Amino acid sequence: MKQVLIDRYGQPEEVARCAEVPDVGPPGRDEVVFDVLAFPINPADVWMCKGSYRLKPPLPATPGAECVGRVTAVGAGVSHVKPGDLVINLQRENWTQKRRVKGEDVIAVPSNLPIRQAAMLRINPPTALLMLSDLVDLKPGDWVIQNVANSAVGRLLIRLARVRGLKTMNVVRRDSLFGELKSLGADACAVDGPSLGEAVKAHTGGAPIRLGLDAVSGQATARLASCVAEGGVVCNYGSMTGEDPVMARSALIFGGQRLVGFMLGRALATRSIDQIREIYADLGAQVSNGTLSAPVERVYPIEEIKAALAHAQHDERHGKILVAPNGPV
Ligand SMILES: NC(=O)c1ccc[n+]([C@@H]2O[C@H](COP(=O)([O-])OP(=O)(O)OC[C@H]3O[C@@H](n4cnc5c(N)ncnc54)[C@H](OP(=O)(O)O)[C@@H]3O)[C@@H](O)[C@H]2O)c1
Repeated sequence: MKQVLIDRYGQPEEVARCAEVPDVGPPGRDEVVFDVLAFPINPADVWMCKGSYRLKPPLPATPGAECVGRVTAVGAGVSHVKPGDLVINLQRENWTQKRRVKGEDVIAVPSNLPIRQAAMLRINPPTALLMLSDLVDLKPGDWVIQNVANSAVGRLLIRLARVRGLKTMNVVRRDSLFGELKSLGADACAVDGPSLGEAVKAHTGGAPIRLGLDAVSGQATARLASCVAEGGVVCNYGSMTGEDPVMARSALIFGGQRLVGFMLGRALATRSIDQIREIYADLGAQVSNGTLSAPVERVYPIEEIKAALAHAQHDERHGKILVAPNGPV
């Protein structure tokens, strides 16, 4: 079977290759075997290939924080999924044609989910959902500000905020995105830059913004924080610049703002497996009824992993880059 391997850390399209590896074999008593139907290339996967992600496994290593698969075999001790079920996997190393994993790590998703959307269900939808629920006690009518608003997380957050009656102020790098984001339910949009604070105030009428979500880092964090109200929370959950977040002392000391971090794994770890399954059931239903989706720019076969990785690093993409290891999806 085919599997993506990196033999050293470096520029992703140079260090990743599609290798022939032994089959995973049949499932043990408490295991599940599934065919990987599709996986996305997320920013964290790119960082992992570069060796600058928090996890740096021994080499050779297989990247891949998420995927969707179809169960082909289950062990005698597994009863919550059966052959034919569509599943997502809570564990990593998913850039491959087949996985054999512990039964408790797979979660069945609705069989009618579009495969491309199901491939992106595991990470970004719960990230958007839990950042809206775990950080600040938000009430309908409250404003939230986010940068990378046209990212998959950003778009999902716009939709989830709308469902909860929250208002979103969306910061991006170009104004040509405003119409698209407004059609998703964005209340207001602005281009990042030195005058972000004034642009935001013009849209909100000075209404307090109690939560700011930042995945750019560097000075962008400080610019976002300048739009957040006194006593509000600025949450850093990513770094598209590769920099650390910068906060003005005045925002922290005089403004009483709190800079916090968010990591999906930590947020899920505070929940039971039943609660986690409930979260994915709810998100799966919202994908199934069309409330939630993330655009896809192109799907590659696994043999073209180098081209897929190079493409995933382009600026101004119109959606995710996916890989379909077992044929077109
Ligand atoms: N902490 C967690 O648990 C967690 C979980 C999921 C995701 N994340 C983070 O969330 C962020 C978004 O992930 P995603 O999968 O939704 O991303 P995505 O769909 O691949 O989109 C990437 C976004 O980053 C923007 N971008 C790229 N380089 C940038 C730069 N130098 N400055 C400002 N913006 C830049 C792109 O804007 P353009 O269109 O203008 O190029 C685009 O909006 C990432 O940082 C990711 O690591 C964190």
